[in-house]
Amino acid sequence: MQEGAILITGGAGYIGSHTVRLLSSQRRKIVVLDNLVYGHRDAIIDDQVEFVKGEVGDKELLKELFSRHAFAAVVHFAAYAYVGESVQNPLKYYRNNTSEPLALLDTMQDFGCKVFVFSSTCATYGVPEVVPINENTVQSPINAYGRSKLMLEWILADCETAWGLRSACLRYFNASGCAEDGRIGEDHDPETHLIPRVLMALTGEAGPVEIFGTDYPTPDGTCIRDYIHVNDLATAHAKALDYLQTGGASLRVNLGTGKGVSVREIISAVEAVTGQSVPVIEGQRRAGDPAQLVADPSLASDILGWRAEHLDILQTVRSAWSWMNGPTKGRYSS
Ligand SMILES: NC(=O)c1ccc[n+]([C@@H]2O[C@H](COP(=O)([O-])OP(=O)(O)OC[C@H]3O[C@@H](n4cnc5c(N)ncnc54)[C@H](O)[C@@H]3O)[C@@H](O)[C@H]2O)c1
Repeated sequence: MQEGAILITGGAGYIGSHTVRLLSSQRRKIVVLDNLVYGHRDAIIDDQVEFVKGEVGDKELLKELFSRHAFAAVVHFAAYAYVGESVQNPLKYYRNNTSEPLALLDTMQDFGCKVFVFSSTCATYGVPEVVPINENTVQSPINAYGRSKLMLEWILADCETAWGLRSACLRYFNASGCAEDGRIGEDHDPETHLIPRVLMALTGEAGPVEIFGTDYPTPDGTCIRDYIHVNDLATAHAKALDYLQTGGASLRVNLGTGKGVSVREIISAVEAVTGQSVPVIEGQRRAGDPAQLVADPSLASDILGWRAEHLDILQTVRSAWSWMNGPTKGRYSS
């Protein structure tokens, strides 16, 4: 039995794979559990990492894994994350994002594993009245995706009361960018994230970029978001694990840069990095898109000593372009 291993669900996905790479480089023993519905086997590039294809809700499989490894902690990325789909098919989201993890928590309780790092989201805040958003902002999600995540935050708090689980709910803003060496990156199908979507308009993988609304009360009329580099997210997970594993109390923190960037600014950044002109269509607002979502990340800095290092959007876009424009053209083969 391997002592102190860490179970990472969804570790073959976008944010998970970057975090697996960092944690493994820190000589931690990592086991990845992913059903590969959206993830990629090739996104796990370290041979030391054990990969298991399977479901987060598969109790027999979990029992086998927990019997074989004395897991010191679980990092839980596995989820569905398409907001629009969650509105059309809410039960799919409640099943996968809220209900399936119950089997995982049950097994953790049975095996006495009491540290949990959770991929929460700024979508749990809904449409905030005040920006930047701090952790005292009321959580009032406006779609099934946000609610499916908020419910798991509540469940984690209840598990703490009942059996002492300590958790870090990390509320990410817009994950973006790729590994600086271009070896791993973002490969979603369908791709809805703005930076890869804009780059795909240049590579011909997608049509012109539609700007959803140009009449928002923002300086250039387009929506403003907080683009946090995926490697900064990975670093925050490493710090959250260290913090919880050395006895730190449960925490709920925003992970963002604290800096807002508009849709038009992203398009300009892509044009600056690539030297190409982006084809654009100006469309209508989408229902439920807040004008601005920007984090106040100071609590994560106070508690974890974590700060985003990628503050220049050009640097973030450059890393995404090096992956999209690299040898595999931004696609994994498996
Ligand atoms: N990407 C963002 O901007 C963002 C922002 C806030 C929160 N999040 C959250 O971060 C996490 C990771 O996001 P991502 O962008 O890397 O998504 P992703 O789809 O790339 O990764 C999720 C991974 O989980 C796996 N998975 C899903 N359901 C599973 C299940 N039941 N059992 C086993 N594996 C399963 C998928 O195959 C995939 O590899 C998600 O929980 C998401 O909700 C993402």
